[in-house]
Amino acid sequence: MASAPSARDKALNPYDVSVNALYTEDKWREPFAWLRANMPVSLREESPFGAYWSVVTHDLIQKVELDTETYSSSWDRGNITIADNVNDNPFPNFIAMDPPVHTAQRKVIAPAFGPSQMVKLEKLVRERVTQLLDALPVGETFDWVDSVSIPMTLGMLLILFDMPFEEWPDIKRWSDWGSGVSEDNLNDDYRAEFLVQMGQMLERFDRELEARRKEAPRDDLLSRMVHSEAMGNLTPPERIANIALLIVGGNDTTRNSMSGLVEALHKYPDQLEKLRADPKLAVNAAQEIIRWQSPVTHMRRTTTRDTELAGQLIPEGSKVVLWYISGNRDETVFKDAERFDVTRENARRHVAFGHGIHRCVGARLAEVQITALIEEIVARRWRIVPQAAPTRLASPFLHGFTAMPVKIEID
Ligand code: HEM
Repeated sequence: MASAPSARDKALNPYDVSVNALYTEDKWREPFAWLRANMPVSLREESPFGAYWSVVTHDLIQKVELDTETYSSSWDRGNITIADNVNDNPFPNFIAMDPPVHTAQRKVIAPAFGPSQMVKLEKLVRERVTQLLDALPVGETFDWVDSVSIPMTLGMLLILFDMPFEEWPDIKRWSDWGSGVSEDNLNDDYRAEFLVQMGQMLERFDRELEARRKEAPRDDLLSRMVHSEAMGNLTPPERIANIALLIVGGNDTTRNSMSGLVEALHKYPDQLEKLRADPKLAVNAAQEIIRWQSPVTHMRRTTTRDTELAGQLIPEGSKVVLWYISGNRDETVFKDAERFDVTRENARRHVAFGHGIHRCVGARLAEVQITALIEEIVARRWRIVPQAAPTRLASPFLHGFTAMPVKIEID
């Protein structure tokens, strides 16, 4: 057995886990399993995104997340994903900030997801799921991504922003632009179009925010922002960056868990039977699908000083990528980790929402939406059968699907 690397031995990663093909071809499991076994912390010197360090085990991901002084999220040190900022304008939202500014701005947003709000949202989520599922063409082929995953999660965002449902085609377009950035399209045309799209979004939300400013405070997210001390006087780029964070954060992530659910239930039909026998398992199944799918493959930090992690010396200014998708397959925490198991006792220990001060602020809302979807599928005795291989997202950041043709059978 190879001895553990000493601080003198740099662990050079033989795999570039940032390439799109690993995710479009669904071949990411093997390289990450190898890295977990051999190089929990490693350096990849060349990639489309330049040199980057990878952290791949459950314990080390958490360790890095808790040390925010050494591992910064701040946009002025680098981006929060493996790709550096795609345009010249920084995107200064609170996920890309360190304390104390992060703490103050998060406090404005967090109450929108607090227990009393969740009771209200839970009812609206149920209505939305029922409405969407009732409209599906049982027995015919349709795209699950377009007909369920996308409208379900976008609908929730509009509820959070208290904006009319007619707006959703535009919001979908903006959200897709924001999250569709990959090494395949980092060209001048894409950048130019990206800026146009962002400009349109800025204008639309600026109008909405200004309207809220003139009204008495309400409990939607836009009103909370504009009437708060920490976020009431943000510059226009800061305002829009925070809106974009909520749109991308709340949308592409939950959406891909809902599509992953169909794939998981198809691969593990015994789990559907377990849910039918005990529908209360839906709550745990929601945790498990978020672990199993890991819709956000990674977040990135930048080191503020020279440091050491698991025997590796990481210099100041390094890009450190925390691969949640790998931490969630860590066999030392999750037995038979590849298996989708709705009865898994520690499913909620997953790191798909991150850990520490940046842990997903919308986690509870995502869980409520996915639980409601599972409960409704089970209650209707639906079996959702894929009709062709799904098309997977070409991104090393978001792990998901762009199309998933399915047919609903009832049994
Ligand atoms: C942060 C994942 C749903 C809003 C994060 C982070 C991850 C994540 C990995 C960063 C954690 C870190 O750096 O430690 C997910 C997943 C979701 C989901 C997997 C669904 C399954 C949502 C929803 C919303 C949301 C529904 C809101 C509508 C946010 C925001 C942050 C965040 C605002 C920044 C928090 C901070 O920096 O303090 N999420 N998210 N997310 N998420 Fe989510």
